Amino acid sequence: MLWVAALTGAMAQGAPQLKGSSNRQVIDAMTLEEKVRLLVGMGMRIPGMPPAQQPNGQGPVVGVTQDRVPGAAGTTAEFQRLGVPGLVVADGPAGLRISPTRPNESRTYYATAFPIASLLASSWDTELLYQTGAAMGSEVKAYGVDVILGPGMNIHRNALGGRNFEYYSEDPLLTGKMAAAMVNGIQSNGVGTSIKHFAANNHETNRNTINVRVGQRALREIYLRGFEIAVKESNPWTVMSSYNKINGTYTSESPDLLLRVLRDDWGYKGFVMTDWFGGMDPVAQVKAGNDLIMPGTPKQYDAILAAAQSGELSLAAIDANVNRILDIIRLSPSFAGQAPGNNPNHEAAAAIARRAAAEGMVLLKNEAAALPLTAGRQPAVFGIYAYDLISGGTGSGDVNEAYTISLTAGLQAAGLAPLASLQTAYEGYIKDEKAKHPKNRPFFMPPPVIPEMALTAAQVNEAARTSSVAIITLGRISGEFADRKTENDYYLSEAEKTMLRQVSEAFRAQGKKVIVVLNVGGVIETASWRDQADAILLAWLPGQEAGHAIADIISGRVNPSGKLPTTFAVRYEDDPTATGFPGREYGEEINLGFFKARPAEIDYTEGIYMGYRAFDKNGVEPAWPFGYGLSYTRFTYGAPAVSASRFKGSVTVSVTVTNSGNVAGREVAQLYLSAPRQQLDKPEQELKGFAKTRLLAPGESQTLSFTLDARALASFDEASSAWVAEKGQYEARVGASSRDIRGRVGFQLRKNLVVAKVSRALAME
Ligand code: BGC
Repeated sequence: MLWVAALTGAMAQGAPQLKGSSNRQVIDAMTLEEKVRLLVGMGMRIPGMPPAQQPNGQGPVVGVTQDRVPGAAGTTAEFQRLGVPGLVVADGPAGLRISPTRPNESRTYYATAFPIASLLASSWDTELLYQTGAAMGSEVKAYGVDVILGPGMNIHRNALGGRNFEYYSEDPLLTGKMAAAMVNGIQSNGVGTSIKHFAANNHETNRNTINVRVGQRALREIYLRGFEIAVKESNPWTVMSSYNKINGTYTSESPDLLLRVLRDDWGYKGFVMTDWFGGMDPVAQVKAGNDLIMPGTPKQYDAILAAAQSGELSLAAIDANVNRILDIIRLSPSFAGQAPGNNPNHEAAAAIARRAAAEGMVLLKNEAAALPLTAGRQPAVFGIYAYDLISGGTGSGDVNEAYTISLTAGLQAAGLAPLASLQTAYEGYIKDEKAKHPKNRPFFMPPPVIPEMALTAAQVNEAARTSSVAIITLGRISGEFADRKTENDYYLSEAEKTMLRQVSEAFRAQGKKVIVVLNVGGVIETASWRDQADAILLAWLPGQEAGHAIADIISGRVNPSGKLPTTFAVRYEDDPTATGFPGREYGEEINLGFFKARPAEIDYTEGIYMGYRAFDKNGVEPAWPFGYGLSYTRFTYGAPAVSASRFKGSVTVSVTVTNSGNVAGREVAQLYLSAPRQQLDKPEQELKGFAKTRLLAPGESQTLSFTLDARALASFDEASSAWVAEKGQYEARVGASSRDIRGRVGFQLRKNLVVAKVSRALAME
């Protein structure tokens, strides 16, 4: 007995433990094989797929701990002899994605489906994002996950981007601020995040092969800027590199992106992981500081080990990556040895999900106060999605929630009982259509779209006679692996147009109003049909509390305060990115393990002029501009004031916003800056600040202020690889949207200012 204790003591002495030792000591004690094992994840099983067809034909690899939390996306290796635990990582942006049930257990493991990122961004409320993140993170913690694979924060470059719903906005400042608040909220639980997909991952089509050709200025100002803000203001534990190439190099293999920009320029301290099976060359990934390769395959492990043994890959590069991973492991619940309680507070999370959903819905139109509806009115509810609401998108961004509140259930609970005959007809139709769907749909793909139910004239006329108002819901689902289409998606289908026309004519003939609810994950065309509606509510994909949150707005329990984070164009072609999207294919199809793709390329020829920057430059009128959204009350803006007429380090612009209507409400005020054009071309104006009032009672005012630092004035100058603020007259515009400026105030910058010099990186080939 004695010698066993002595031997254990000696082993413990011989093998430093992560707790109580420095990374250096642990790294020195690791074998080369152990180091390589830490850099390559433990593999992944694709549910329902036979072993022979598993990724790269190998199935689960290297180790066996991927089942610590069933349904998690991956794990890292653990080394008991060194006291280094494995990390569990799981998706994704709208809530934790794990399996809701486990074999031989009667209890469930549901997670809360929060609203999608585009909805959250429409709240323009960083405090709300923090609280949503805190609630999401508490479930991550409760279920024994160390890192949640979110938030997603790519830019909404084009309306058809299949994963736009997982992302915040077309604007990098709004994106960065939202992501930072979300990360801070999640990480306040002592669990980590992975901001993704770094960077310029704006297409799902050929996402594993596409080469994005984009200038350095557009990269720095648009596609990297949000990530920079999130890194600097929230310190995410991890960053996920993207699938695509930028200017010829896979992002996960790019020392320019991962070492120069992320680490040298921004001072990032966490670790980088690949997206799942992303990139081609594991050795190049290690060299580029893509610390962790996920989910990990034996081939990658072998390639790295061989390169290290042959001297092609330096030990220093391996150690640097191991070191960064160990730093984060030290922060994790797994390192603290915390056993999962598996008992999250779902009720509290659902309450936040509902509040967030209502805060981020955008009222696009409200003629003659069509909304809110007073209790007791009986709506006739049309459209299949009213009865089968879409709570979130598909793919890795999906959440296994316990329930989704339908619109009819939400209305009912709000005292707006929907017309029963229609409900019966729709529910029967949906059931029959779903019965026709194939039982085994491909893993991760959206369900087949159910065509809109055809309505008879008698049905519509009867509804118009017996109910007091029409509510029509239009829905769109999208997700990973595919971009959206213009036909029957961006544009309405013929069946949807017919429904709108029929309902609108019948109800208006009776002097009754028509409300349209958009249950969509991204932009759709609205200009051609909006006259047929009296009110349009953009409800997005609102998470599991969907029906309650929509009813909160429709009933007036919550006064809408959301504003658009992305421009709604009149026609798809009005957006300059429409021309090349989603890229040119060339060459033979390539087999990428368990899926195929063609080589593809895309030029971001519009440079920095995308989103509202493009509509402004090209003088194109959008259907609904960036930053736009209505309220049930009105807000007046006082004249903005500036703290100094000459810029010296910073200036503060302030404005007093008054609720001049009849109900309490909140307003999002936005600050756009118009900068002088000297050497550099500049957008007409750019968002540089925003603030949301508290709930203001009628007649109440609040003063909001926006501080502009030197960086807010600067543009990226490719010639000098620096952020430069050019001298001259600046105009700060305070508005209720990008096209509803309520006041302007100027200040001067006397001399050109080099605000920051950064690496010369990511040049076009
Ligand atoms: C997605 C990531 C996700 C990962 C793990 C990939 O297909 O692009 O966003 O985190 O899978 O599920």
